[in-house]
Amino acid sequence: MKPPKGAGRIERKLWLKINDSNIPSHVAIIMDGNGRWAKKRGLSRIKGHKAGIKAIENALDSALHLGVKVITVYAFSTENWIRPEYEVSVLMTLLFQFLKLQKKKLMNKNIRLSVIGDRSKLPRIVNKEIDRVLVETRHNNALIFNIALNYGGRDDILNAVKQLLDKNLEKDDINEDLFSYYLYTKGIPDPDLLIRTSGEVRVSNFLLWQIAYAELYFTDVLWPDFDTIEMLKAIIEYQKRERRYGGTGGI
Ligand code: IPE
Ligand code: IPE
Ligand code: MG
Repeated sequence: MKPPKGAGRIERKLWLKINDSNIPSHVAIIMDGNGRWAKKRGLSRIKGHKAGIKAIENALDSALHLGVKVITVYAFSTENWIRPEYEVSVLMTLLFQFLKLQKKKLMNKNIRLSVIGDRSKLPRIVNKEIDRVLVETRHNNALIFNIALNYGGRDDILNAVKQLLDKNLEKDDINEDLFSYYLYTKGIPDPDLLIRTSGEVRVSNFLLWQIAYAELYFTDVLWPDFDTIEMLKAIIEYQKRERRYGGTGGI
């Protein structure tokens, strides 16, 4: 793929390795390691989260240039509420500021915001800002920027079950397509590639149903250090994988 203007030497080399005809449509990311990134530098965890936000903007730019259609980032899990109250409140504030700052940029870049997860427990001002950006960006179509907020894969599945129970359906009416329709990710194709940073090899309750056939990519790089070069390495690795979906792969 043709490198974007201003790409450095190493980055250019990686762009040239990318095969334009095998770009994952949906990339999901477990952005982990902000706390450890800060600790390594003798900084507070909060500074780590601030650095992590910059990495999100960078991931959006690389996704745009690559032609990825959806990027989903795990920003806050249903389990993250057990963190100290101060950290939770800073995360919510950072999110609010991020959305406010990004509004214009998302418009300029033609990116549509989407949010998955149980929004009912988020602070009111965060929800208001989310609504504003959702409305403003709703016609943008270069990339969907999907943020998982108070998201849990199990909560997603239970929430779908509860909605289905209200529908008076026959057993035989229930199938995978119908079930997917009631998930938070309704209308969004399943992830092709799931990236997790920071060296942890687990999915931590992220998109459990949706990652059934995603390619998994784990890297030791901490989220604030995940730059364009790291994204390109992940895509190059993805392009080496043979996706079989249970078939024989022609062997
Ligand atoms: C990920 O970084 C960001 C969120 C969960 C919001 P962490 O805060 O989990 O960083 P580590 O895992 O402690 O290094
Ligand atoms: C997963 O990271 C959640 C997010 C990135 C938002 P965690 O840091 O919360 O996951 P565990 O606790 O290491 O599994
Ligand atoms: Mg973590």
